[in-house]
Amino acid sequence: MSKQLIKHQAPGKFEDTRFEKIHNEIFKSSDHASKLVAEEIATLIRNKQGKGEKCVLGLATGSSPIKVYEELVRMHREEGLSFSNVITFNLDEYYPMNKENMNSYHYFMHDHLFNHVDIKPENVHIPDGTLKEDMNAYCIAYDKMIDDAGGLDFQLLGIGRTGHIGFNEPGSHYNSGTRSITLDYVTRADAAPAFLGINNVPRKAITMGISTIRKAKRIVLLAWGINKAAVIKKAIEGPVTSQIPSSYLQRHSNTTFVLDTEASSELTRVKTPWLVSSLEWTEPLKRKAVLWLSEKLEKSILKLTDKDYNDNGMSNLLVEEGAAYNLNIKMFNVLQHTITGWPGGKPNADDTKRPERAEPAKKRIIIFSPHPDDDVISMGGTFDRLIEQGHEVHVAYQTSGNHKKFTAKK
Ligand code: F6R
Repeated sequence: MSKQLIKHQAPGKFEDTRFEKIHNEIFKSSDHASKLVAEEIATLIRNKQGKGEKCVLGLATGSSPIKVYEELVRMHREEGLSFSNVITFNLDEYYPMNKENMNSYHYFMHDHLFNHVDIKPENVHIPDGTLKEDMNAYCIAYDKMIDDAGGLDFQLLGIGRTGHIGFNEPGSHYNSGTRSITLDYVTRADAAPAFLGINNVPRKAITMGISTIRKAKRIVLLAWGINKAAVIKKAIEGPVTSQIPSSYLQRHSNTTFVLDTEASSELTRVKTPWLVSSLEWTEPLKRKAVLWLSEKLEKSILKLTDKDYNDNGMSNLLVEEGAAYNLNIKMFNVLQHTITGWPGGKPNADDTKRPERAEPAKKRIIIFSPHPDDDVISMGGTFDRLIEQGHEVHVAYQTSGNHKKFTAKK
């Protein structure tokens, strides 16, 4: 196993994670994190090879594990990593689904991994989306095959916005085995772009159960990006509940969540570190904390009291700043300086306390607007000023997020 991933808390740092019930590691980049996960898998494969044993891997599809597979393929090509002793079981497959369909998990796994390494085809197991009859018997046999292979040595997971692992959607039972399941609307909506519309996304899937997954000896769950932040907080800090099936992993003793900065951004120790332990107050952190307090208490900044700060884990900030009165005025001024009638900068003016530089006086500006009219509705006044004050302004309309894009010069 990679040392970085099994790293334990440094002494005295334990309090940082006191809200967390699942071991997790946060990385600046998902590239680097994926390499470490691939390294852990490769080490496991090699160790087993050394002992003449099979290595049983549970595998996931989706965007999260792609870089892990890329790295494993690279290790196979460049470092001679062999998959000859590897047996794989995939978590899930859409149902019904043909193997040749580019959206099938069968296609995905071959495209990203199996076609590029020396795994024996008979050692690859992916739930069969073409099954015609006796789903129940098929699913029981899938679990039995995993048991007969010696159980999963390592299970790789992603997480859905519903909190699903595999396709165990909210409501899935702790003791569930492999079975067919109806997909949640959110899961189907997330898959819609790949299927060119939600109506083309299958309504059902076959998935390994929670019980199947939690029998794995080691579990690593990957989560990248801001869209996963809310559900990651629930899974790691919330109660164990069937409404967030990934929270069941709190009861597994060898699980690590591997997160990038964005996916970790709702965790208490990241979002509001002052609630977790004493810390060094940088200026951006002070600003973040005071704004958070003002929003939480629904009070304007100038009305925050010493007691408000003390009751919310910010007493050492008061010690540093003197008193609430001083800190409030300081932060109020910081915010005041973000407001200006010269959004593109004021030419020939002292810009040390202004939000935008004075020079160059005429700037080329691009406004990103998720939808045509967002620019006008949400920042029409600013837009107008920028033009009035002689800047060259462009708008990039991102009409459907990533498909259509055009720019208009004003
Ligand atoms: C895929 C699977 C799912 C995905 C999850 C996240 O085999 O079991 O649980 O891991 O939906 O998908 P991505 O990685 O595309 O965000």
